[in-house]
Amino acid sequence: MLNIVIFGAPGSGKGTQSEFIIKKFGVNHISTGDVLRAEIKNNTELGKTAKGYIDQGQLVPDSLIIDILASVLDNLKESKGVIFDGFPRTIPQAEALKVMLNERGQDVSIMLDLDVPEEELITRLIKRGQECGRADDNMETIKKRLVVYNTQTSPLKDYYKKEGKYQYIKGLGTLESIFGDIVTAVEKL
Ligand code: AP5
Repeated sequence: MLNIVIFGAPGSGKGTQSEFIIKKFGVNHISTGDVLRAEIKNNTELGKTAKGYIDQGQLVPDSLIIDILASVLDNLKESKGVIFDGFPRTIPQAEALKVMLNERGQDVSIMLDLDVPEEELITRLIKRGQECGRADDNMETIKKRLVVYNTQTSPLKDYYKKEGKYQYIKGLGTLESIFGDIVTAVEKL
C-alpha cells in the first residue's frame, strides 16, 4: 500500500499536488481541512466546535481530529493507498496515524515536505482569500496559522526523518515541475 503524508505550511500546495498524486497513483485522499470545512458547512456540532479554532488560526484538538481520521479511514473504498493531506499536524497525531496503519498491517510510505518561503505562502493565501473567500485566508489569521505551523507542526520533519520517511520537495515553481519531483521520489520507493 502506498501511504503518502503530504506536508507543508499553509499555502505550500498540499491540496493542489494531492489532486495530481491521486490521478497518477490511484490513491484515496483524506484532507482533514476539507472534512472540517464540510462539517462547518453542514452546521454540525463538530463543525461548530471546529470553526472556533479554524477562525483563530489554531489547531483543532488532537482527540477530535484523531477520531475523525479513524472514522474516515474505516469508511474508505478499496484503493492502492491513501494520501494524508493536512494530517498529521502534531506528534500525537503522527503517533496515532502510525498505530492506525500498523493495525492494518501498514505504515507511512513517505512524507513529502513541500518547502515554500514564507513571503510566497502569504502571497498565495491572500490571493486565494480574494478569489475564493476562504474565511481563514486573511492576513491576521494567516500569520497565526504560520506561527502554529512553525511551533506545533514543523517538528514533524524531525519525527519523519527519524522514521526514515522524510523527503524534501522544493515547493516553488510550476505545478508540473513540483509534481515531477514528487513522482521521482514516490517511484523510488
Ligand atoms: P487545511 O485545510 O489543511 O489548511 P492549510 O494547511 O492551512 O493548507 P491550505 O489548504 O491553506 O494550503 P495547501 O498547502 O493545501 O495549499 P493549496 O494547494 O490549497 O487546514 C485548515 C485549518 O483546519 C487549520 O488551520 C486547522 O485549524 C484545521 N485543521 C486541519 N487539519 C488539522 C489537523 N490535522 N489538526 C488540527 N487542526 C487541523 O494552495 C494554496 C494556494 O496556492 C492555492 O490558491 C493554489 O492555487 C496556489 N498554489 C499552489 N501551488 C502553487 C504554485 N506552485 N505556484 C503558485 N501558486 C500555487
